[in-house]
Amino acid sequence: MLSAARHLSRRLPTAAAGVQVRSMGHAQSFHINTPDNTPETYFDFTDENYTRVYKILSKYPANYKQSGIIPLLDLAQRQHGGWLPVAAMDKVAQIVEVDPARVYEVASFYTMFNRTKVGKYFIQLCGTTPCMICGSEDIKKTIEKHLGIKNGETTKDGFFTLLEVECLGACANAPMIQLNDDYYECLTAKTTVELLEACKAGKPPAMGKWGSLPMNGQVSCEGPLGKTSLLDGPPAPPKVDVERFKGGEVDPASVKAHMGY
Ligand code: FES
Repeated sequence: MLSAARHLSRRLPTAAAGVQVRSMGHAQSFHINTPDNTPETYFDFTDENYTRVYKILSKYPANYKQSGIIPLLDLAQRQHGGWLPVAAMDKVAQIVEVDPARVYEVASFYTMFNRTKVGKYFIQLCGTTPCMICGSEDIKKTIEKHLGIKNGETTKDGFFTLLEVECLGACANAPMIQLNDDYYECLTAKTTVELLEACKAGKPPAMGKWGSLPMNGQVSCEGPLGKTSLLDGPPAPPKVDVERFKGGEVDPASVKAHMGY
C-alpha cells in the first residue's frame, strides 16, 4: 500500500534552474518527492537524541504519546539541519504510535516546521506593518542583493535561505529578522550586510543578555535614548481592593496560594 505521503504527492510548478524555492509549510499541504526527501529516505534519531526522545515522552501519560509530536518533530528538525524530511515525520509517527497522516497534519500546520530543505542560516524577515514602516523592505532588498536570491530561495552554496514572514513579536525593535533561533533587531542596511558577512565567516554575533540582539547597540527594548522610565526601581505592585471581596467568599490571598503565586 502506498504511504500517505505518496497519496499526497502532486505536481507543482518547478523552480527556476539554479535556485531552490522553499515552499512554506502553511502554504503547501502536500509532499513532493525530491532525491533527498522520499518516504524511503532513511531517517532515525541518533542515540543521543533517543535519550531526549524518551525524556520528552516521559512527560506524557503512556496512552497519550501523541502529545509529544511537536517536541519530537522539533528534535528531528534540529538533528536534520533545520528541516523535516517525510521520513522523519514517519519516524515520529512510529514512535508515538499514530497514523503518519496525524503527524503530517501537525508539521504542515505549524510554520516552525520546514518541510523542504533550508540553508544553514535560515533568515525569516518580518514584513508586517511595524517592521515595514521602519524599513523592512530596505532590509529585504539588501539581503536579496547581497546574497543574490529572492524571497523563498536558497543560495547555491546552501548557506542562506530567505523567507518573508509575518510579525515575529519584536515590533518594538523593528525592523528585525530571525536567524535560525536568534533575533537580530533594529537593523539597517549596513548592519544587515555586516550580519550576513559574519555568518559567512561562521561567526554570527552572539545574543545579548536579554536573549536577542538589537544591532544598534541599545539594550533590549530600551530604545536609542536608553532607559527613560522606571528609573526609581521596580513599580509598586497593584493594590488589591480587598473591600470588594469582603461580602463574598473569595479571599484574594487564598486565590494566590491556589494559583501558586
Ligand atoms: S511587526 Fe515585525 S516583529 Fe512585529
